[in-house]
Amino acid sequence: MASKDFYKINAVREKFAGRFGVIVAMSGSAIGLGNMWRFPYMVGQNGGAAFILLYVVMLLLISLPVFITEYMLGRRSRSNSFRAFGKLSGKKVWNFAGILCILTSFCMMSFYCVVGGWTVKYMLESFTLNMAQGADFSIRFNEFISSPVSPIAYTAIFLVLNAVIICAGVRKGIERFSKIMMLVLFAIIILVTVRSLALPGSVDGLKFLFKPDFSKIDSSVMMSALGQSFFSISIGGGAILTYGSYVRDSENIVSSSAVVVGLDTLFAIFAGMAIFPAIFAIANMNGTIPEIEAGPGLVFITLPYIFQKMPLGGIISVLFFFNLLMAAVTSSISQMEEFVAFLLEECKLKRVTATIIASTVYVICGTVCSLSFGVLSDVSILGNSIFDFMDKLTSNVMLTCGGLFIVLFASWILKKEDFIDELSNHGSLGIPLWLLNVLFILVRFVAPVGIIAIFLSNIL
Ligand code: PHE
Repeated sequence: MASKDFYKINAVREKFAGRFGVIVAMSGSAIGLGNMWRFPYMVGQNGGAAFILLYVVMLLLISLPVFITEYMLGRRSRSNSFRAFGKLSGKKVWNFAGILCILTSFCMMSFYCVVGGWTVKYMLESFTLNMAQGADFSIRFNEFISSPVSPIAYTAIFLVLNAVIICAGVRKGIERFSKIMMLVLFAIIILVTVRSLALPGSVDGLKFLFKPDFSKIDSSVMMSALGQSFFSISIGGGAILTYGSYVRDSENIVSSSAVVVGLDTLFAIFAGMAIFPAIFAIANMNGTIPEIEAGPGLVFITLPYIFQKMPLGGIISVLFFFNLLMAAVTSSISQMEEFVAFLLEECKLKRVTATIIASTVYVICGTVCSLSFGVLSDVSILGNSIFDFMDKLTSNVMLTCGGLFIVLFASWILKKEDFIDELSNHGSLGIPLWLLNVLFILVRFVAPVGIIAIFLSNIL
């Protein structure tokens, strides 16, 4: 594209209003199904506190540096993820990386919006107290997700919610919605946590969450912890890059990244403290074994049962599923925005048209994933259903490879001076140079070696 055109695009590019806006939008992207749905069942399956400890170590050494780098690439390039790499390196060939980013967001959305649809359904059902009718929750859940029409309709509703926000634009849509929702999300999760901790016998749940069992840790658990951290803070697929491209020049990238990653982790821990103590308390009450290893069904099968059993469970259920839905929306809009930004700037479409196209593509991808629980259940890819395959492919392979590429690109293809210049806002922020040097070492050596080692140990 001629540089004149580029500057025209740049001039109309929206920006987040200020620091608070950036932090809520990025935390909104980070805090999502990953925290409330995926994190708890991963903790349940992979050894409780041992997994959490591993997760935090990975976060500090690998994922946070990747987050900072992806964010930095976005702001420095001020372009959509397709163009960013080519523009920064001055070589068009690098645009292929941008194509991979957009592909990742497709694969990701294909299953994310399906779970978003389930959330819509469960929230509505909690409102009508439909869930509290003593049915077998596992059968009900499986019947619902395997039916050919209903989950797809809910997926479409979920996407319409996303589309409305995206149509309103970066500041009036994404930023404004995230500002309101982040406050609501934290308020509700704290409330649900308090309710759960107040149940007699809930202490066992806390013990499970915070007492490490290192015997469960192996290379595949390490891979899962790494994948989960990438998934949870939205890195490796270009969503943070896209949001970073809307951030003002005066913003401190390092400190806002630390705040976002901190909030995301805090929220995940809250979600764990909302879920496990309640599960243990109810199991203790019934004299049964707590179902902590329930996997993806934990939130949709185990929890409705728990809510049914606990005093004030109806209200808690509404609050919980409302929270889950809003968390999912503030995350999926960042993926949709990535694709929409690409369509806006590369195909010169209007925002509304781009949003309609993006939503349509996602409905189609989502339909395939959803049907993998029903008519397409015989289709298996490497031993997984299409849904599971997409989930594992994106979190464990595409996001981690994307993250690997991002750190390698920023530290080996671009210059170290550029890295330091962008993170220090051209030297004006007064961040100590040693800190930026340490960060650069993490980005250049530690993160790539860590990612590759975990990858190899998992394959071998
Ligand atoms: N971080 C989101 C979550 O925790 C998922 C996500 C991943 C969103 C990658 C955007 C990009 O649910």
